[in-house]
Amino acid sequence: MTKPTVLVLKKLPEEVARYISEHCEIMDLSVSENSPEQLKHALATADGLLQSGVTIDEELLKSAPRLKIVSNISVGYNNFDTAAMRKHGVIGTHTPDVLDDTVADLVLALMLAVARRTAELDRLVKESGWGPSDEELFGIDVHHATLGIIGMGRIGEAVAKRARFGFDMNILYANRNRKPQAEEKYGAQYRTQEQLLRESDYVVVMTPLTAETHHMIRKEHFQLMKRTAIFINASRGPLVDEKALIEALEERLIHAAALDVFEQEPVDPSNPLLTMKNVVTLPHIGSATSKTRRDMAMMAARNVVAGVTGQIPPNIVPE
Ligand code: DGY
Repeated sequence: MTKPTVLVLKKLPEEVARYISEHCEIMDLSVSENSPEQLKHALATADGLLQSGVTIDEELLKSAPRLKIVSNISVGYNNFDTAAMRKHGVIGTHTPDVLDDTVADLVLALMLAVARRTAELDRLVKESGWGPSDEELFGIDVHHATLGIIGMGRIGEAVAKRARFGFDMNILYANRNRKPQAEEKYGAQYRTQEQLLRESDYVVVMTPLTAETHHMIRKEHFQLMKRTAIFINASRGPLVDEKALIEALEERLIHAAALDVFEQEPVDPSNPLLTMKNVVTLPHIGSATSKTRRDMAMMAARNVVAGVTGQIPPNIVPE
């Protein structure tokens, strides 16, 4: 019996590739930059697709007559046009849970980096020695400050846990529904988004990107924040109207920002955020540790193998 074919667009750890090839033929396009034509050509004979970030829409699906499953190596699945996938009978899967702690660690790293200016001062020491007077190196405390988490999902909770027990922070959260368990465990207090923005010293957005959450943070939201507030995004760039964020920083509506994600990725080198001293920028590395990326790849591999061999994949994306 011929094995199903899985098109792979991302370099996989050896043991993950080995696992897939026990069950499937691998068509590996991970090493090259693929044009849309090359991708469509390869999809013509693929039963499964393993990748992260490629937009899966009607147009792409039309060139994939055999495709049964698209397996994202990411928890986010804003690259899926779920209606088009449903229409073509294609299952979408993602990699929840395994990356929660790793992303939460990065959120804390961003908070500390921006508040204590570690990236800026690292550059200072390396470029011009010890730097100016002591006072000019002052930052802002993280401990005992108020943290507002917009989107109290699994990663939001992992952030709350670190902030509460590691840094004695006061936790506020805004979410579609109340989370009594998080309230009990982390002393998190529920607020409307507007109240949260007014009261928080640190605002972290942790919601998934959907049509409803696109640009959920706009100029009027920065206007509500404290002039001393620090804004952090390690979720998805388009949750925030980036032009409004730039204006808010230029007009000093907020104090600083730390960003792992941007509206356009890779970020445009001329983006003004890259030249602001009070903005920490990272290249979307939320889940990027060797172990977590290996676990995500294995989880995605199990999903794709299940999908192409007629089983129900364990991590189908929610509707
Ligand atoms: C995800 O899994 O969605 C992360 O953003 C990848 O870093």
